[in-house]
This record gives sequence, structure tokens and C-alpha cells, in this order.
Amino acid sequence: MNILVTGGAGFIGSHTAVALHEAGFTPVIIDNFTNSAPSALDGLEKILGFRPAFYENNCDDAALLRHIFEKEQIGGVIHFAAYKAVGESMAHPLKYYRNNLGSLLTLLEVMLEKQVPNLIFSSSCTVYGQPDQLPVTEDSPVKPAESVYGNTKQICEEILRDTIAAKNPLKITSLRYFNPIGAHPSALIGELPLGVPSNLVPFVTQTAAGIRNSLTVFGGDYPTPDGTCIRDYIHVMDLAEAHVAALQQLVKTNDSSFYEVYNVGTGNGNSVLEVIHAFDAISGQEKLPFVIGARRPGDVVAVYADAQKVTAGLGWNAKRSLEEALRDAWNWQKTLRQA
Ligand code: WQD
Repeated sequence: MNILVTGGAGFIGSHTAVALHEAGFTPVIIDNFTNSAPSALDGLEKILGFRPAFYENNCDDAALLRHIFEKEQIGGVIHFAAYKAVGESMAHPLKYYRNNLGSLLTLLEVMLEKQVPNLIFSSSCTVYGQPDQLPVTEDSPVKPAESVYGNTKQICEEILRDTIAAKNPLKITSLRYFNPIGAHPSALIGELPLGVPSNLVPFVTQTAAGIRNSLTVFGGDYPTPDGTCIRDYIHVMDLAEAHVAALQQLVKTNDSSFYEVYNVGTGNGNSVLEVIHAFDAISGQEKLPFVIGARRPGDVVAVYADAQKVTAGLGWNAKRSLEEALRDAWNWQKTLRQA
């Protein structure tokens, strides 16, 4: 079955393209390179042994989507394409609402028109804000979004829920990610740093590579065991494989209308300092230079998944450790340094 991977040149999209191929699906990619680069397609080609069909375009172009569905015989979609920079979303809300909501609405309309029912939606644990209880389950209350980016994810989930409530012939699963890190073990694809990384692990690897002078830990006075924030860091290949498991469930489901939501995390929480120490243990270099600085506005203290539902529902669980993810991220960084 041919699967359209929107944003498939991006970090999670490209790794999911690999997992799709490994499971016997054929990825077809649409991406406008706003948060990715053509080099990801070169790396994918080396891993897959063929270059996936690729369309450089936005996802809100209905005419193009119709063309792709017909030409590539699309049987399902994994929708990653969205703007995702929390800070930028606060400065440019209309850009985020137009792109993140508009793309999903256009995609849903074309899927209904072409009678393609299977959709996996890329959502985020940011919908939970600061959970009242940890680990966080899918029944935990969705809190008012802390950012425009997070709000677009919440609104998209509501669009999906209402679309299925109206009994449209679609089968949809929303996957709420935690913190994807790492890279494919081949180091041929990984998290491409466009500009100064806002995420922790790319900043760690760039500091270790000498691109950044020092890491600033955003806050050392949180109510956690070592004073730094806690997150659920999941290897990007584990996350990619969760998408394939979710798609396989949709393909098998006989219901004409179906909607499900899963948290996709390891179920473990690690603090910023624990990530730094784990990196030092695998980097083979001197200790990472870091300073404890001011808290970053918008950060929640701790969030990590209760992954029981996704394990029960999909038979999936994270297999790779934090250390393995950091090792793969570091190997990827070292190939970038040579580039
Ligand atoms: C993790 C921890 C920082 C950088 C965001 C989005 C989320 C998803 C993943 C899109 C925090 C600390 C970070 C640094 C630091 N993105 N940190 N120094 O904020 O949990 O999640 O990215 O889907 O939606 O919100 O990830 O990697 O930015 O931060 O101390 O230089 O590392 O304060 O505690 P976050 P992150």
C-alpha cells in the first residue's frame, strides 16, 4: 500500500518513511522544506535503496493532493507537515493557524473525495500542559494550550473528532508524541538543525561538536529531584515504528468510521541533568560544558507518558534506551560535522 507522508523530509517523517518500508508499505513524500532539506531524501535513498516519489509543495494545495492521490494510488496518509516552533507560533499566530489547520482541512476534504480512509495524525503531549497527575494518560484533561502551536494541535484533534462524530467514512488515529530524540543508526538521516536548536538534545550534540560554546540548563530550581525539568525522551525510530503499528491497526479495522488517540512515549521520565550525564557516559569526550540559567517561559515542570494504552492497543512499546538514542544522535552529529 502506498502511504502519503506529509512532512516526510522532516525529522520524524523521514524516520517513519524507513519504518513504513520495513513493514512493506511504500512511502510517498510531500514536503515544502520549511523545516527540512533535500539532503534528507538523499539519506533516505541510501537507506531504502530507492528514492521515494517526492513532491515539493505545501499540503494545502487541494489540486496537487488530488493529483498525488490519483497518480500514486494513495491508500493512507501520515500527516506530519505543520509548523512546530513554540516561540515562533506566539509571534506569528495567523501563520500557524493558517498552515496547521488549513493543511489538515484540505487533506481531510481530499481524502473524503478520493475515498481514502486511513489517517495517522501527528499530535503532541503539549495538549496536556502541566498534567495534574503523572504519568499522563490519554484520559488526562486537555489543558488550555500554553502556545499557539499547542493550540493548533488541540484544534486539529477537535476537527478530527468532530469529523468522525459526523460518521464520515474515515479511520483516524492521533498520536500524542513526547520528546523524540536520536537518529537512524546508519547516521544517514537525523534531526536537521536549521538555526539555533531550541530542543535539548540537538543543542547537547552541537555543544559536544564545538558548534555551541556551552549548554544552558533552563532552570535548576524546579520541584524535581535534581531541580531540572523532566521529560519522556523517546527514540525517533521507536516513534516511527509506533506510526506503522497504528496504520496497520487502521488498515485492519472494519469500522467505516474510527477515531483513537494514543500517547506515544517510553513511560520513563528523565531530567535535563540526567540527559547530560547519560550523554557524557556515551560521548567518549570530556564532560559537556553547561551552566544552570533562568527558567524558560512556557516550560512545564514534568511530563511523561503512561504508555499502557498504546501497548495494549497496538502491541507496541519503546524498545530503545535513552543512551542508545543519545549515541545515535551523537553519531549523526559527527557525520554533519564532516559534511
Ligand atoms: C526539553 C527540556 C527545556 C534546551 C518541545 C515542544 C514539543 C515538541 C518537543 C513539537 C526542557 C530543557 C532545552 C536547552 C534546556 N515539539 N532545555 N536547554 O520543550 O519539552 O518540547 O519539543 O512537537 O511540542 O514543546 O522540548 O527539547 O525544547 O526541552 O535546559 O538549550 O530541556 O527547558 O526542560 P520540550 P525541549
